[in-house]
Amino acid sequence: MIKPVLPPVCYTEQGWFDREQEKIFGKLWLLAGLTQQLQAENDFIVRNFSGVPVLIQNAGGTLRAFRNACAHRGMPIQIADCGNRRLTCPYHGWSYNGDGQLRGIPNEKIYGLCKKEQANLKLHSYAVETVGNFVFVNLSDDPLPITEQFSDDLLLLLREVSPHFAPEVSYSTFTGHYNWKLNFENILDWNHAQFVHKQTLAPLLQFESGGGFSAASKNVSILFGPDSPLSDIRFTGELPPADPIGLKDISVIGRSSMPYTQRWFAKLFDAPLDPGSFFACNIFPNVNFGSIHGEHFYLQQFVPMAPDRVEYHSWVFTARLKHGVPPQPHLLWGIHHAEKRVIDEDVVLLNGLQKSLSVASTVGTMGDHEEPLAVVGRWYMEHLQEEGLS
Ligand code: FES
Ligand SMILES: [Fe+2]
Repeated sequence: MIKPVLPPVCYTEQGWFDREQEKIFGKLWLLAGLTQQLQAENDFIVRNFSGVPVLIQNAGGTLRAFRNACAHRGMPIQIADCGNRRLTCPYHGWSYNGDGQLRGIPNEKIYGLCKKEQANLKLHSYAVETVGNFVFVNLSDDPLPITEQFSDDLLLLLREVSPHFAPEVSYSTFTGHYNWKLNFENILDWNHAQFVHKQTLAPLLQFESGGGFSAASKNVSILFGPDSPLSDIRFTGELPPADPIGLKDISVIGRSSMPYTQRWFAKLFDAPLDPGSFFACNIFPNVNFGSIHGEHFYLQQFVPMAPDRVEYHSWVFTARLKHGVPPQPHLLWGIHHAEKRVIDEDVVLLNGLQKSLSVASTVGTMGDHEEPLAVVGRWYMEHLQEEGLS
């Protein structure tokens, strides 16, 4: 059956972008980072969600999110992208409690604010949810429960896999010149791997005659094996197509065979958690999380900044190292470098596709294997053309 693709205007026009901000990014839970980045009191990360400056701060052991703007004149409370610093504005020294309430004003008299006025001054806060080590923020004043956005299987996976993460994370960001949806569609599109990643990812994967991936065995997996809480998890393809398509149905979990060959760093871990497998979660709207053999993990996010611009974020970390093995920054750098090669192979094409869509006069077509892209497209049209998210 031939399936329609989204019209090019959805990838190029400001009007669609604005509607996405209102109906998707202003309403849904968005990945903000990892708890590994926020371990100590006063650890913080600063994010820019399509122009909204968001500060996530460890406030006395609780993760809080605020608009990164001081109640005095709007100066960012934290200037760096990440670090460890109290909630004190660098401009005139106003300080805030962990709940965002104004704590103190140096030279208080010059402002002439009575106690009641001071009590009303606070940082605008946002809802935060942690699922395992994954930190999500919601920019809405009335956030939907996260259990309405993500399936039980996905939440369980994120929770159960997290204790296996090493504390050290390699993190990097860059700008791509394409629409964020092209990136989400690209990670759902397995058929591109053998053409675009010929020399990088494709040699690691095991393709079937039709070009699809072969299934991975659960028997040798610590993460998904019979004794794991994840043994009953349902992967993409094991479920009947959803009708009608709900929000939970457009985030998917896939797992495929990837023949295991021991890499030089395998001996640093107790055992590969998921040998012979490559698993990936495509988490709507803009996250890709997965692992090669359960030895190292990648987390990627493509934040829309304009119809034709994304801020790409990339985290890489390994499974926990054996007791007594020191942190391995060179290993993280090496893995991240290799991963960036794969990312760049996609980015160069997505930049080209964006240019082509900006002058496209016709709408394309898709094959049966592109059903997951069509499903997201259908959900997108239903929700962006109608009122509100259901
Ligand atoms: S802008 Fe923050 S103290 Fe003045
Ligand atoms: Fe790719």
